[in-house]
Amino acid sequence: MKEPPGPKGHFLWGSGIAAIETPLALYTSAWKEFGDCVKLTSIPGYYWYLFTHPTAVEHVLQTHQQNFRKPDVFNRPMSLLVGKGLVVSEGALWMRQRRLAQPAFHKTRLSLLAQSMVDATVEHINNWEKLNTESVIDIADEMGALTLDIVGKALFSTDLHDYSERVGTTLRIALEHVNYRMGHAFSLPEWVPTKRNRQFLKAKAELDSVVMEIISKRRQSGIDENDLLSALLRATDGESGESMSNELLRDEVITLMLAGHDTTAAALTWTWYLLSLNPDKEAILLDELKSALGGRMPSVEDLPNLPYTRMVIEESLRLYPPAWGIIREAKEDEEIGGYIVRKGRPITLVQYITHKHPEFWEEPHAFMPERFEKDKVAQRPKFAYFPFGGGQRACIGKEFSLMEATLALAAIAQKLKFIPLPNQNIDPDPTFTLRPRYGIKAHVLKRNN
Ligand code: HEM
Repeated sequence: MKEPPGPKGHFLWGSGIAAIETPLALYTSAWKEFGDCVKLTSIPGYYWYLFTHPTAVEHVLQTHQQNFRKPDVFNRPMSLLVGKGLVVSEGALWMRQRRLAQPAFHKTRLSLLAQSMVDATVEHINNWEKLNTESVIDIADEMGALTLDIVGKALFSTDLHDYSERVGTTLRIALEHVNYRMGHAFSLPEWVPTKRNRQFLKAKAELDSVVMEIISKRRQSGIDENDLLSALLRATDGESGESMSNELLRDEVITLMLAGHDTTAAALTWTWYLLSLNPDKEAILLDELKSALGGRMPSVEDLPNLPYTRMVIEESLRLYPPAWGIIREAKEDEEIGGYIVRKGRPITLVQYITHKHPEFWEEPHAFMPERFEKDKVAQRPKFAYFPFGGGQRACIGKEFSLMEATLALAAIAQKLKFIPLPNQNIDPDPTFTLRPRYGIKAHVLKRNN
């Protein structure tokens, strides 16, 4: 069977440096030149694959998912922060933990969280409304603070009040380090006492101890707070009857904070940016909000009446998918799209490219929320769009996040508008999540309701 074609790159390190420094540019140019199946090389003997066609994505994530696993290049740096949490665990442990965590994300449980999502958003709206028209904020920072509050409240409800600053700071330091490690596979291991490593280990120890404190307090009180932590504490395995140990619970809680806050923050940030560039679409959104809500804050019952608001979010996730790529490796040699894929070699699936594949998307770079009307979705292959992944390992927080982003967008857009400053360099930065490299600086304008 043949190998996929691909660029030669530099004679010593192939495309290795470009993959670290400019992955989106590398993958886009490789796809344009060589098509949907590409083999990329790095230092001699090291190579990996890029697959961008929805059929290949479906093969890896769904139809043949049992033949693939998450590789160590992803799992190792992630597990520094999340231990054995869901994002990195494999096999029997993953299956048991997923089974235990799933009920916490059930629709009925999520609707209990909607009010706290809106309450947290209102607190931020009140602060933005106090700003004068000259003030400059960074939309990315503001959305980061908002989604951290929301995921904190959803996980720990009121308990977070005493700890929110410690959690926020330590999580930021730890996340920055994981990002760094993902891009620097050959950096010094954490036991070497460099300044960076010491800072990370200190932040991680602090984060672990805060989360453990919250868990023990909650176990002692035994009260069901209707939040995610209570749901995870109550979860018992149907087969063994066991619940999660404190250590596993801590790992899952940190996983949810990590996976749940930066991603939705990026989604909302790009949404404001896209709306600012597309006033005609913003007008349709405002019309919907006016007729569905008439100026009041949204609730979970309003969600069915906010289809355009949700489509705005979906379209933003298409153009700027916060999880811009997914990585796997084959457990044995595998055939994909008529090409041989060798066991153990990383495979990258890149939402950022597939979501703009011209075979499936008309005017792929245009912001058109209408693409997500039901009949149009039905005409596309399922894996032309996979912002939340797919198959068994699909995002557990998908509905949580769509509900959160839709409610926050509806609440905020009715009250105010972010106006990005002109002449900024808006450059998508593909670290752990896809976010604007230099943030997005903006004025805040109150709407006259
Ligand atoms: C816009 C927001 C979000 C995006 C784009 C997103 C994207 C993704 C993607 C693509 C995956 C699959 C990764 C893979 O297959 O390798 C994933 C997994 C995961 N996500 Fe999300 N996510 C978002 C929000 C959330 C939220 C709000 C939570 C939790 C509160 C969450 C928790 C998780 C967890 C725990 C996993 C691992 C699931 C497993 O392997 O069983 N995510 N997410």
